[in-house]
Amino acid sequence: LQKEKTSGPLAGKKVVITAGGTVERIDLVRYISNDSSGKMGFALARAARAMGAAVTLIAARTDEAPPRDAGIDLIRVQSAQEMHDAVMARWSHCDILVKAAAVADYRPRESSDSKIKKSGSTMTLELVKTTDILESLGRIKDKQFLIGFAAETGNAEVYAKDKLVRKNLDLIVANDVAMEGAGFGTDTNIVKVYDAEGLVLDLPLASKDEVARRILRLAAERVAGALI
Ligand code: CTP
Ligand code: CA
Repeated sequence: LQKEKTSGPLAGKKVVITAGGTVERIDLVRYISNDSSGKMGFALARAARAMGAAVTLIAARTDEAPPRDAGIDLIRVQSAQEMHDAVMARWSHCDILVKAAAVADYRPRESSDSKIKKSGSTMTLELVKTTDILESLGRIKDKQFLIGFAAETGNAEVYAKDKLVRKNLDLIVANDVAMEGAGFGTDTNIVKVYDAEGLVLDLPLASKDEVARRILRLAAERVAGALI
């Protein structure tokens, strides 16, 4: 049995973090995914734990192995659908949910459980939209504190604010993944965090560990109802 950590700004809170890029199968040996490394999500999971939370880390494909620290309950998933189901199963017991994962927007309409053989000179793959997990959560949100990410290449502020409203989020973390030192695969990030009123945190280049701590500190203050 793991010893419960009972101190820290997130003591007694259940925090769910999603990380990595989902894998949408084409066939047994091929898939569609994205460049998400999982690092931001892992940093969030470790930081939430260090702040006293009981953490569930739902990880899709990641570059490195996820943390196995005591107090971080790890769930591995592949597809957007599996991530959706894993998140939904934990939703009613969750206080804070951070959706750092890069979820595929489309998946192949059909996937084969054997290897597809090549045939003609062209091949068309038909894709269908996945369920937007965050948008679904925003619709059924009760007392949970919901944090989304917006990975953009330009116009980050406009797109991020739109996502905050559309998905009924409490905070959105915007990063421009085209910027040097930000985004996929790096150990650092450059983020701006918005709530419905506007900019609440502007972080120039910082380690993903530091970014994670700052985001969760904001969440902890707001969940506790303290003044910012
Ligand atoms: N997200 C999700 N389910 C999806 C797609 C996205 O939960 N099917 C979440 C991501 O985990 C992220 C947030 O929504 O926290 C924003 O993802 P992003 O890809 O930036 O936005 P989209 O709404 O998918 O719009 P677009 O890709 O067109 O920018
Ligand atoms: Ca997307």
